[in-house]
Amino acid sequence: MTLPSLTKLPDQPVHAPSGPPILQAENITVRFGGVVAVKDISLAVRPGEILGLIGPNGAGKTTLFNALTGFVKPTSGRVLYNGRDITSLQPQARAKMGMARTFQVERPFEDLSVLENVLVAAFLKYRGSKAEDHAYAVLERVGLADRATQPASQLNLARRRRLELAKVLALEPRVLFLDESIAGLNPPGQQEMVALIRTLAQSGLAIVMVEHIMHVIMSLSDHVICMAFGELLAEGDPHAVAAHPDVIRAYLGDDND
Ligand SMILES: Nc1ncnc2c1ncn2[C@@H]1O[C@H](COP(=O)(O)OP(=O)(O)OP(=O)(O)O)[C@@H](O)[C@H]1O
Ligand SMILES: [Mg+2]
Repeated sequence: MTLPSLTKLPDQPVHAPSGPPILQAENITVRFGGVVAVKDISLAVRPGEILGLIGPNGAGKTTLFNALTGFVKPTSGRVLYNGRDITSLQPQARAKMGMARTFQVERPFEDLSVLENVLVAAFLKYRGSKAEDHAYAVLERVGLADRATQPASQLNLARRRRLELAKVLALEPRVLFLDESIAGLNPPGQQEMVALIRTLAQSGLAIVMVEHIMHVIMSLSDHVICMAFGELLAEGDPHAVAAHPDVIRAYLGDDND
């Protein structure tokens, strides 16, 4: 992560978040033995809104992400979906309700075609030809329709990432959790993914993303939360967070005071 990208921010997002929050977290704390990985973090995300989660290594981003998606049980605090307390629900139950996540390491079924990979998820929602139509529509949405019959094993990294997204979108989520879905892509691949994520938000999806590439998260997010050592360091619109002295210090280290 480099600081120069903090000072030259691209244009702000064009989508318009609306309505009450679909996902809220209240005072989430997660302890692992003596380590407080997340300390008293609260957040809310509305349909159409992109929430960016940043912070130095070990800040607690993944742990918070896991607490929201049900892979880690918070020591204290609550997670609400559509106003309902889901703190003790398993990840699968949350997925059924409309919360879906991608994983950092994409794992397509290599021997299946691109379409078949998405069909596996589409069949959880629809039957027969309806599932197939749905899977095609999702492939079109992520720009992979022309690859439908190719084996997943033949896709390059950027397309594998989009396939991973397609599999998740086939479940018709209302909240999407993206775990570093842009990191590791070359600049054109990054651009494509940024445009795609923006389109998804415009369609009304609420998106929570952890991403290390600062200019990406800053250009996409409506709201940014910066954590360090498990605690909230700063939050607000991307410009305000990027200019916050504590955030700059956290990324540069105290030697640069
Ligand atoms: N399962 C675990 N058991 C014990 N400690 C853990 C566990 N998971 C995370 N931690 C600790 O909690 C803290 C926060 O880790 P976390 O992985 O959430 O940070 P992060 O912000 O995602 O970091 P990175 O940017 O490196 O991915 C770290 O000190 C980490 O060592
Ligand atoms: Mg992490």
